[in-house]
Amino acid sequence: MTKSPVRIAITGGAGQIAYSLVFRIAAGEMLGPEQPVILHLLEMPSAMEALKGVVMELDDCAYPLLQGIVMTDDANIAFTDVDYALLVGAMPRGPGMERSDLLKTNATTFKTQGQALNAHANHNVKILVVGNPANTNAYIAMHSAPDLNHKNFSAMTRLDHNRAVAQLAAKTGVDVNSVHNLAIWGNHSAIQYPDITHAIINGVKATTMVKPSWILDDFIPTVQQRGSMVIKARGKSSAASAAYAIISHMRDWVMGTDEWVSAAIMSNGDYGITEGLIYSFPVTVKDGEFSIVQDLEINDFSRTRMLANQQELEQERDMVAHLLN
Ligand code: NAD
Ligand code: LMR
Repeated sequence: MTKSPVRIAITGGAGQIAYSLVFRIAAGEMLGPEQPVILHLLEMPSAMEALKGVVMELDDCAYPLLQGIVMTDDANIAFTDVDYALLVGAMPRGPGMERSDLLKTNATTFKTQGQALNAHANHNVKILVVGNPANTNAYIAMHSAPDLNHKNFSAMTRLDHNRAVAQLAAKTGVDVNSVHNLAIWGNHSAIQYPDITHAIINGVKATTMVKPSWILDDFIPTVQQRGSMVIKARGKSSAASAAYAIISHMRDWVMGTDEWVSAAIMSNGDYGITEGLIYSFPVTVKDGEFSIVQDLEINDFSRTRMLANQQELEQERDMVAHLLN
């Protein structure tokens, strides 16, 4: 093993997503089998005992790639010299709540963590915000870290992307690997826009394979409501599928992909979306940077939904403005 270890911060280390995530990262699933890692696990003081248990289990795996563990309840320690930061730790919603209901509770966490990342992380740190409402929490963290490039920040819509691929593949009776060029636009919320206008299945336009009524009445609401449906069924929000989406998002960000995937990144005005919002776009990745897929034709149906997402994110942005002065 010749590579130097990289440092990966994971917040909410004793939570349910982390329990599906940290073992896979330590096994090399995120950065590959040649890349040693040091895990920095951040928790609330009240969950440090539970975190100790997670660390005992990590030790007990004797992972060849795991070269160290930092366990702390102090963000300034957790983010020191980290190359990657997975901001998972935040309160999840329960039944009957919208993700934006979490904004009040979770917003200050992302301000504090943005400041700590700014002060202590490696300046090339790649940051993925998962804690909800993920887009606006990423916006808060980004604005609290003025010395870090905005390109270092992303929020997760990969789970929505994967859900959409799975639904379309099931409906058309194909393998998930046959579905390409699908997009999630906007906010990781109940009005997100899963878009199959450009999707291709085995060389055929997906829109010729399904009825418009299925797209409108089934596909879009199913993807939008999938998080709620999982909460209703499990009594807890999605965890294993979220962990897999985190690993996929980070692996693609580091290793690159020509495949369209979806990620919420800072809008630079492409497709007319308000600059500065953390908005989900279809992207590809090269040399560690996301590129928004360009020159897509946007029909009126798509435009209306994309604008609704923009407005919702503008409202969330305005709700947290007082925190960022
Ligand atoms: P959980 O309650 O099981 O775990 C969260 C952990 O974070 C807890 O152990 C808690 O003590 C810790 N925590 C809270 N505030 C913290 C802070 N300031 N610093 C460090 N640790 C902190 O929740 P979970 O199921 O793991 O979900 C975590 C978050 O991820 C929730 O907000 C959930 O809604 C969100 N989520 C997002 C997506 C997505 O696609 N973007 C998918 C699933 C879940
Ligand atoms: C999800 O999409 O599963 C997560 O954002 C959890 C939730 O609250 O829906």
